[in-house]
Formats: sequence, structure tokens, C-alpha cells
Amino acid sequence: MCGIVAFTGTNQAAAILLAGLTRLEHRGYDSAGIAVIYPDRPELQLTRQAGKVAKLAKAVVREKIVGTCGIGHTRWATHGVPSEANAHPHRDCSGKIAVAHNGIIENYARLKDELLRQGHQFSSQTDTEVVAHLVEHNYNKLAEAAAAANGGGDDIATGNATGAGSNDTGTSNANANATGAGSTARADLAEAVRITVSQLSGSFALAILHADHPDEIVVTRNDSPLVLGCFEGGAIAASGLPALLEYTRDIAYIEDRDLAVLHRDGQIDYYDPAGEPFTPSTYHVDWTLEQAEKGGYPDFMLKEICEQPRVIRDTIAGRFDEATRSLSFDELPLTDEELANIDRIVIVACGTSYHAGLIGKDLIESWARIPVEVEVASEFRYRNPIINSNTLVIAISQSGETADTLEAVRQARRAGAHVIALTNVLGSQITREAQTVLYIKANLEIAVAATKSFLAQVAMLTLLGLYLAQERSLLTGPQIQELYGEMSKLPLQLEHILADTSAIERAADSCVAAQTALFIGRGVGATTCYEGALKLKEISYLHAEAFSAGEIKHGPIALIDAEAATPVIVVATQSTTHDKTLANIEEVKARGASVIAVATEGDGRIAELADYVIYIPPIRECFSPITASVPLQLFARHIALARGCDVDQPRNLAKSVTVE
Ligand code: F6R
Repeated sequence: MCGIVAFTGTNQAAAILLAGLTRLEHRGYDSAGIAVIYPDRPELQLTRQAGKVAKLAKAVVREKIVGTCGIGHTRWATHGVPSEANAHPHRDCSGKIAVAHNGIIENYARLKDELLRQGHQFSSQTDTEVVAHLVEHNYNKLAEAAAAANGGGDDIATGNATGAGSNDTGTSNANANATGAGSTARADLAEAVRITVSQLSGSFALAILHADHPDEIVVTRNDSPLVLGCFEGGAIAASGLPALLEYTRDIAYIEDRDLAVLHRDGQIDYYDPAGEPFTPSTYHVDWTLEQAEKGGYPDFMLKEICEQPRVIRDTIAGRFDEATRSLSFDELPLTDEELANIDRIVIVACGTSYHAGLIGKDLIESWARIPVEVEVASEFRYRNPIINSNTLVIAISQSGETADTLEAVRQARRAGAHVIALTNVLGSQITREAQTVLYIKANLEIAVAATKSFLAQVAMLTLLGLYLAQERSLLTGPQIQELYGEMSKLPLQLEHILADTSAIERAADSCVAAQTALFIGRGVGATTCYEGALKLKEISYLHAEAFSAGEIKHGPIALIDAEAATPVIVVATQSTTHDKTLANIEEVKARGASVIAVATEGDGRIAELADYVIYIPPIRECFSPITASVPLQLFARHIALARGCDVDQPRNLAKSVTVE
């Protein structure tokens, strides 16, 4: 949620900031802004717009923003409506300090009261603005202290990040007036930010500029992502990798409340929360800039849907050894004894990742015979779940940043569980908090609605289920070989589905004007429906709900309106409960529903019952969520486009939910 970019170097900052913000726009897109220091005077140029980055880009050209040191922001509103005044960056009273922020400052109200009492003037409704004023306050105090130490005058305090003012963690003993004191003196910006950070609670990634420091930007974070890199043209920091890929693929992360100072010459200095310098670990990422581009597709969502055969191929590849007829999971450090001791698995996740977890539950339980519970991470963290050292916790998060899932991981670890993170993003926060990481091979996913990452999560959980069954001697080598062999057919099947989407489009056309759509299925088909309904509602804003087909008689069937011919989408692929599903189709038909069935090629009976049939190739039931999900993704996209919606950036949403 929200994307920040900071750049200082030899190139023009505005172009780099705008390019970075465009590549981070999936994180939030209700307003955007940049602040750049004038090249020839200690003042900031600030441009902000309600709306998308493209609108900001026009304003930047109009206003001829120049300079090589700046910060930018694309917003997903938490405090205050999306408007120019609430768009970031936010400034202090002097107008010299600018702050871009991703996250929520939880103690902002108390800080704001104190700052108001001291005479600071606020111009937005955001929580972020307190940071600008607090940095101003701390900066002025440092400048005054330095001036006093030097006998007054227009002094420069050049202490390092551990320097003056490090004991001051409150604003109540402030003696600087809000707009004046220290404004002619220069202090240590990094130290002022370090003190400020010690006064903040909540989640934040911050990029902070000061017009008197034209060659540096201070960045910091707590619970919100920040990735840093340097290249010939300068130093850059951002909320996500896509903003960096054009310049470097060697990146660094900082831990909570660490500070980094970006310098014009490309140097980055790192300080821990006590102000001690350190050298961060660096990573080389294999994501490429092309992955951050549409590559000829009309939207990222379609591009990502079409990448799914490759994603599944990569996820499956190399897991099975023909010679030993066994699956390997080298990433799992669990000993045989630890594996044998696992008495429960708890999967925690949100949204689409939660749906992947529900499918994983079915498969793991049926093959490995270990009880699996799947919990929504936002609930898990406030319950008192039963977790101990014999519980294996699998935390699923495409982004690796979801605040609720991260908190669930912490809670599980405190209770002694072994936590496996299943994620897509190298070095993301979850990878640093879990003991074990399983990377899905989805590559960069930009469309807000998850598609290829979902399929990759399901494929990985499927393999994990088979592996656990193998390790517990519940499936033999030949059985695993047979199942893996069938799984290996999936990429070709997905290509086949993607090759002709006309039946999907015909069915979707019939729903464009609908008020509500119901999805029903049984077993893993029901879970496939949950995800199908989520896709439809989030990108087309058409109300959609999914139910277990056996449940509809217990209430939801009342929603079917014969006059409106309510669409009912049925996942009716070959399964042990196929006949029951056909009976459910009869029931909804009898009440006037318009039935769209996703069925297995060769199933003639379904054509007699349903109004529209989308055929997919035959596959064992356990793998069917992978094939059946693809028509549902395309179905949702087609309806969304017909309803005039932006499928990549649906309203009110953001790609990663870094706040609670
Ligand atoms: C829906 C969607 C969301 C995410 C959810 C969790 O298309 O993308 O429901 O699945 O916000 O995100 P991650 O997986 O990044 O933790």
C-alpha cells in the first residue's frame, strides 16, 4: 500500500521518480506527488495530484521540475480522502523538509497535538504530516545545540548519526519555535530522522528530503518494505523492486528502524537504530525489467494469466527424481523425526493466498493424513490459537509484506512452531521472519488481482502435500511418479485453455448486466469457486458469492431471481461428487438461474443442463483447481472490461496490504 521512491544522483530526478512510481502504481493509485530540490537554491519544488501517476507526470512537465535529488509517492489513502492536499510528499512549516511515507503512524494524533501546541501548522488530514514536523523539530534542536556549542551563530552541526540529541525522545521539552529556530543553521539530517524514528510507532517506510541537504536523502522503515540499490547514476530506494530494475538488480534491504543515507555519488551509508554504521546483506534478483512491462498485452492481468503455463512448468520442474522415484524439497530443513512429530499444520494467509491454503488443506489431508487448519491471518493474530512445537505453520503471502500474515508468523514463532513462508518475493519481510522459505516461481506480478501467483501457490502446496505423504510413507514411489506425471501435463492443458477463450467470453457476455453472480462447486471445486468469485468482484465490482454446492439449499438459493436469470457459475469438472453437482445444477435451473458450467471435455450431460459450458481438458480432481481457475480468471476479466473497469488497478484496492 503506497509506493515511495527516492533518488539522488547525476540524472534528473523527476524522470526517475515518475518511472519508479509508475512501476509501483499497483501499490496504491489514488493520488501521487514528488518533491525535488532546486539545483541552484535550497528550496523544494513540490507537485502533487489527486489521481494516477500519469496525471502527475503531465503536471511535472508543465511545471518544469528540475533537479537531481527528490522523492516521490503514489498513495492508497488511509487517513484523509484522496486529494491534492493529502497527497504526499508532506512538508514541515519551513517548507524545506519533505516526507513520503508508506504505512500508518499509529501515535500520530498525540504527536500532532504536541506539535500543534508548539505552533506547528498542518495542512493535511494525514498521519504522515507529523513526521515532517517532527523532523523539523528535531532538526532545529540539533542545529541549536550545535550553534550553542560553538558559541552561537550560523553553525553547521556535522555530527554523525550517533551525535547530538540522541537522548531526546520526546517533543515536550522542545524549545525550538515551529518555524524559526535553526532555520539558518544546518544540522545532521540523518540524526534528526533517527531521533524522529524513535518517537514513532506504527508501520512506516519513509523517504525524507531537506532542501539544505541537496545531495542526500534519508530513508528508514519499520514493518513496511524498502529496497535500496546504487548504480552509476546515483542511489535509489523504493517500496518495491520494480522501481529499481531499470538501474540495478543488486539490492539491499534494511531491518526495522535502520536508517540509510543516499548520496549523490551513489554511495549509501547504513545505520542501525542506535546510529551505528553497518554493512547490509545484498541480494541479486533475477527478475527483469521486461517482467515489469506489459510486453504487448493490453493489460498486466492478461499477460500474467497467459504466463501461467510457464509458471506451473517452472514450479513443477526439478522436484522429482526418476531414478529414486521420489520428490525432493531441499529447502525444508526438517529432520525425519521433526517431520514425524508434526501433528497439525496451520496455514495462515489472506485473500487469494487464503484460498490457495484451502485447496492445500484438502490435498495435504487427503495424501499426508495430517490435520490442516486454514486461518485468515487477520483473525489468527487476535485469537489464542493452539500452536506448539509440533505444529507446522505455513504462511502464504505472494508479496511477503501483508501485515496480518507477518504478525501471524511472529505469533506462531513465539509459540514455538516451525514456520514455512510460501512467497514470491525474494528478500521480502516474510522471508526474514520465517525459518524456512519456499519460493513460488511466479516472477513479478503487477496486476492487483492475483492470478499466476495463486496458481503457483496451489502447485507448490500440491507438491508439498505429495512430499509429506512420501516422507510419511503414505504414498509409494510409483504412486508419486504417477501423480507427478499427471501434474506435469498441466502446462500443456493451460496452453490449450488459453488458445481458445471464445466460450468463456460468450458466457461472460451474458453476465455483464447482472446484479449478482453465484459460484458453486464441491470439494476443491468449491474452493476454486471462492477464488473465482473474489476475482469477479474485485475487478468488475459485480457482486459475487461462492458456496459449497451442497449448502445452497440451506439459504443461498433464495438469492436466485428467475426474472433476472441470476447467473450461477458451477465448477462441475469430473470428480467423485459429479452427480451431486449435476443435481445442484437442476435445482438452480428449476429456480430460473442461468447456469454457466466449467466442465470436463467429453461431458455431454452437462451440455443438456447448462446454458453455457466452458470445457477444460480432463485431469484428476486433485489438480483441477489449477485448470478450472484459469477460465474463471478470464471470465472475470472479460466482464470487468465490458463494464468499463480498469482490470489492473481496481478501485479501492492495492497490491500489497502492509497495514492492518
Ligand atoms: C486478490 C488479492 C488479495 C491478496 C491478499 C494477500 O486478488 O491479490 O486478496 O491475495 O491481499 O496478499 P499476499 O498474498 O501478498 O499476502
